[in-house]
Amino acid sequence: MKTPAALQALIDDGVIDEVLRPLKSGKEAAVYVVRSGDDIRCAKVYKDMAQRSFQQRVQYQEGRKVRGSREARAIGKATKYGRKQQETAWKNAEVDALYLLRDAGVRVPEPYGYYHGVLVMALVTDADGFSAPRLGEVALSPEQARDFHAVLMRQVVRMLCCGLIHGDLSAYNVLVGPDGPIVIDFPQVVSAAGNNAARQMLLRDVNNLTASLGRWAPELLDTWFGEEMWALFEAGDLRPDTVLTGVFAHDERRADVAGVREAIEEARQEALIRQQGREAAAQDD
Ligand SMILES: Nc1ncnc2c1ncn2[C@@H]1O[C@H](COP(=O)(O)OP(=O)(O)OP(=O)(O)O)[C@@H](O)[C@H]1O
Ligand SMILES: [Mg+2]
Repeated sequence: MKTPAALQALIDDGVIDEVLRPLKSGKEAAVYVVRSGDDIRCAKVYKDMAQRSFQQRVQYQEGRKVRGSREARAIGKATKYGRKQQETAWKNAEVDALYLLRDAGVRVPEPYGYYHGVLVMALVTDADGFSAPRLGEVALSPEQARDFHAVLMRQVVRMLCCGLIHGDLSAYNVLVGPDGPIVIDFPQVVSAAGNNAARQMLLRDVNNLTASLGRWAPELLDTWFGEEMWALFEAGDLRPDTVLTGVFAHDERRADVAGVREAIEEARQEALIRQQGREAAAQDD
């Protein structure tokens, strides 16, 4: 096929030899099948920031670490430089996440680098070598669904142990390879510690997967893996190999109430101490 403009620089640099065909063009990126020597890979070309929802960006940007205060300030102000930097930060987030997660043993496509704003990674294929279908597009037996669910919960736990939440996890961002599910599409990855909405995002991610797989194995719909892993994570007790049950005694709500009471009491005490300090200072004047 005719080389898309965004991929010409990769050919010029010898990163890839040929663009074979377009694979998929989504909301945020166009993915192409490419050849690098004897290897068939895929290249993800990011679409313009302007085409993406601003709302989404603001929500996701919260909690994402940006190197250097100059960069942070630039992103804060919507200057041209700021927009450019933000675009770079956004694009890098997926690449950074992919390498981090690959190293942590999460089932993701093998990354092969980031060149000229294009992510090159392994093409996930099915048993016949065709590009792998998405989890939301395949029919499963109840056993397969339970199996995939267990594997995916393990991936979410491993991600959480890296301090990351996918943020857009669903059966449409999971590919079905010959030896099980593989998670893709990380540009909106969220920091588990730094984002107020982190718990909500984790629960949404887990619930999306559970709801999809629950079509084939309805008993999955009675599980509470998201709540369980978040409680362990918050307590500092979550490990990559922690065995989850899916059973969750919702006493966490009671624990939360106690926590909130404690926080209110602490704030009240602190205000009191400050007030006393101010009064003492006023008397000294
Ligand atoms: N490594 C890969 N191997 C095989 N297919 C892939 C790979 N990466 C992406 N795809 C295909 O390309 C599609 C789009 O990729 P991705 O989800 O990363 O981008 P996106 O623009 O966010 O897409 P969408 O908006 O549809 O979620 C995927 O749904 C999948 O079908
Ligand atoms: Mg996607």
